[in-house]
Amino acid sequence: MDRYAVIGNPVSHSKSPLIHKAFSEQTGERLSYEKIEGGLSSFESDVRDFFTKPNNKGLNVTVPFKERAYALCDELTPRAKAAEAVNTLYLNNGDLVGDNTDGRGLVVDLEQNYGVALRDKRILLIGAGGASKGVMLPLLEANPDRLVVTNRTLSKAEQLVGRYKGNPDFPEYGDKVFSESFDALDEAFDVVINGTSASLSGELPKISPAIFSDSTHVYDMMYGDQETVFNRWAIRCGAKQTMDGLGMLIEQAAEAFRVWRNIMPDTKEYRSSLR
Ligand code: ATR
Repeated sequence: MDRYAVIGNPVSHSKSPLIHKAFSEQTGERLSYEKIEGGLSSFESDVRDFFTKPNNKGLNVTVPFKERAYALCDELTPRAKAAEAVNTLYLNNGDLVGDNTDGRGLVVDLEQNYGVALRDKRILLIGAGGASKGVMLPLLEANPDRLVVTNRTLSKAEQLVGRYKGNPDFPEYGDKVFSESFDALDEAFDVVINGTSASLSGELPKISPAIFSDSTHVYDMMYGDQETVFNRWAIRCGAKQTMDGLGMLIEQAAEAFRVWRNIMPDTKEYRSSLR
């Protein structure tokens, strides 16, 4: 049987085995999927060892290894290159290929599951760390009116935006992407996406509530048993709708499953059961 796994550290909390087991049952694809705790000093050899066994077909990569997986690959997909991080690995004629399905997962969740079309919308992306970097290209590919990146440390937002402005690899996005400081934000957006880790410490980014209007759709890439701190704030500030990152988790998994098996699982029936 073909074997897949998620590698991370820690990895015990990962929901990926549950999700991929459900996809394999739904599609009839026979495969196993487990968790591997990667060694903090041996991640690279752990990956190489995994792929020496002929039945071992693919790995998902999670915290803190996505950048190290990126550095390890022989080939990268355009969206992995843009993210400078890899969450999906497989072999192609012996070469290690790295892909990144996180951003696609976010866009599919927003557009297809929640019906929030991004075309011509004004989008605010808060945060300029790995989570934000991973979703920039798929967000731009959805043809928004503009994508504004803001970050507590403004220089990091400027750097992230700079990768798309004036870059001949992305000529079509240069005039759509902007950076702003927290202080300068005083207007409402159609879509606000939180890509910071502030919620982990129960904090809120120090941004004016003016970013929300009663037509703003709010997406927190984090998720938990309850509404996230960020989403609770957005509701108090009058936002139209809040969504959390559980759907993105399911959709990035579905996209990885498609990359590996060439079959797209139907995530609809699965969403409510995981919640
Ligand atoms: P990840 O890979 O999860 O994105 P990261 O690369 O460490 O993690 O990035 C964390 C992001 O959350 C950064 O944008 C960080 O802002 P800084 O660059 O200024 O550090 C943001 N962040 C974390 N705690 C925050 C807080 N309390 N308020 C605002 N932004 C915060």
